[in-house]
Amino acid sequence: MTDLVKISEANGVMEILWNRPDKKNALSNVMYRAATAALARAAEDKSIRVVVLASEGDSFTSGNDLADFASVAMGGEAPAAHGFIEAMIQFPKPIVAAVAGLAIGVGTTMLLHCDLVYVASDAKLTTPFVSLALVPEAASSMLLPARIGHARSFAMFALGEGFTGAQAAQLGLANAALPKEEVLAAARKAAATLAQRPIGAVMATKKLMRDASILAHSRTEGAIFAERLHSAEATEAFTAFQQKRAPDFSKL
Ligand code: COA
Repeated sequence: MTDLVKISEANGVMEILWNRPDKKNALSNVMYRAATAALARAAEDKSIRVVVLASEGDSFTSGNDLADFASVAMGGEAPAAHGFIEAMIQFPKPIVAAVAGLAIGVGTTMLLHCDLVYVASDAKLTTPFVSLALVPEAASSMLLPARIGHARSFAMFALGEGFTGAQAAQLGLANAALPKEEVLAAARKAAATLAQRPIGAVMATKKLMRDASILAHSRTEGAIFAERLHSAEATEAFTAFQQKRAPDFSKL
């Protein structure tokens, strides 16, 4: 049990809330594991028809906890992110996201596995994998270009360019961009509506829309990502973050 993720259930809806606002909701292994276990329970439990993914505080999530990434290079445990992403990819019921603010890295790529997304107009969505000497994950190197095209996706991955919530909605990455304080209510309203729909038809529709190659692609990325975590480039990136300085890749 951890209080870094809040899990609640009511009226057919499970809510999973990132609850580490002092660290911008950076996702640690313990948080991924708690959310993965909640998704497993929601998949099995007939009384749960929809999941809402949201957060406490002004950020959705600043992405993977970089201290956990750094510890992998030092021989620490493998990130639990993969298990969570695979649980999302295979989750059979609808997932509704409420993105109240910053969504970095997996904070953005996990949205590609949500079925409805409500975002704050001034939220910032970025996927700066290359700046961290990493590669895209969660099948985002396939799913993001399919949504917004290669050039824009490459600029996000390699240049660290991002979108506001308003731009994300225009590009089709989100259903609606709203004032920050209305985002969670919009997600809850959509989830309540979905919970009333015939669950068999909802699940069959979701299954038809999710390509079976997504999981395989995510695993291919995961293998390269794991190699990158052990690279000297990545060590420099994580050390620089901890030391609050810009990384220097010039000698690597
Ligand atoms: N992993 C670990 N800790 C993180 C974190 C992350 N991904 N994101 C933020 N934090 C921590 C900071 O280290 C800081 O901790 P401290 O108060 O103990 O020093 C705290 O959260 C607040 O962050 P801070 O950097 O002071 O706030 P900010 O508003 O100046 O900047 C961010 C916020 C999110 C832009 C900045 O923290 C950042 O760039 N984080 C890394 C994002 C990232 O690269 N994620 C991985 C993507 S794959």
